[in-house]
Amino acid sequence: MSSVEGSTSVSRPAELMRVPQHVGIIMDGNGRWAQARGMARSAGHRAGTENLRNVLEAAADFRIPILTLYAFSTENWSRPAPEVRALLRLVQRVIDRELNELHSRGVRIRQIGRREGIDDALLRRIERAEELTRDNSELILNIAFNYGGRADIVDAVRALVREGMASEEIDEAAISARVSTAGLPDPDLVIRTAGEMRLSNFLIWQAAYAEYYSTPTFWPDFGREELYKALLAFQERKRRFGGLLSGA
Ligand code: FPP
Repeated sequence: MSSVEGSTSVSRPAELMRVPQHVGIIMDGNGRWAQARGMARSAGHRAGTENLRNVLEAAADFRIPILTLYAFSTENWSRPAPEVRALLRLVQRVIDRELNELHSRGVRIRQIGRREGIDDALLRRIERAEELTRDNSELILNIAFNYGGRADIVDAVRALVREGMASEEIDEAAISARVSTAGLPDPDLVIRTAGEMRLSNFLIWQAAYAEYYSTPTFWPDFGREELYKALLAFQERKRRFGGLLSGA
């Protein structure tokens, strides 16, 4: 695959010394991308969907092991019904079109978020994609769909209560083991496109210590070079996890 500049065959530029283990992306700005071109919002969502392929290829080239994409939040149901329908259709179409290719590239697909509320046809596709790709390990792709970070925490707490865990036994590890990303490392980098500076209920438990990167670029234009810039910014950050820098 091509390099960042597209001029050499280097797939992982040498300057990338420290790549995050888990990157979360809030894909924002499809609507504004379309508006800026005098197009309907649905055209922006289509362009955003086309862009997934670029970003997945680049993520694999940069050896990012885990990617979590915020595709549809629990709050997105409140958008106008035709837009919701169009978004759901797009997700369905992405799975139909891309599943075999993603599988052949060793991508493991998982949905995180509540299953209730997702219609049967889409749910069947999600389950088929998860089943088909369950043993793949090149890249874990979590699709946050019908996802809300607070709901994720609520569901983890409900699981603890169902299990009858004593209150004094409940600690952070117990909750981490029951949120939707259980078994995976927390994201160390969260990227948001289209300039906003908020998490919007995305991985709020898991991203407690994540580095945050915001770019004004709209999602349909966020390609390989933009991802590379985010990774470079990440490796410049000094991560302290609430402590002091070593040697400081
Ligand atoms: C934000 O743009 C984008 C979304 C709400 C949807 C993103 C979903 C996709 C690109 C499809 C993903 C599919 C899979 C399978 C991962 P916006 O509409 O909020 O843009 P705006 O803020 O400019 O209005």
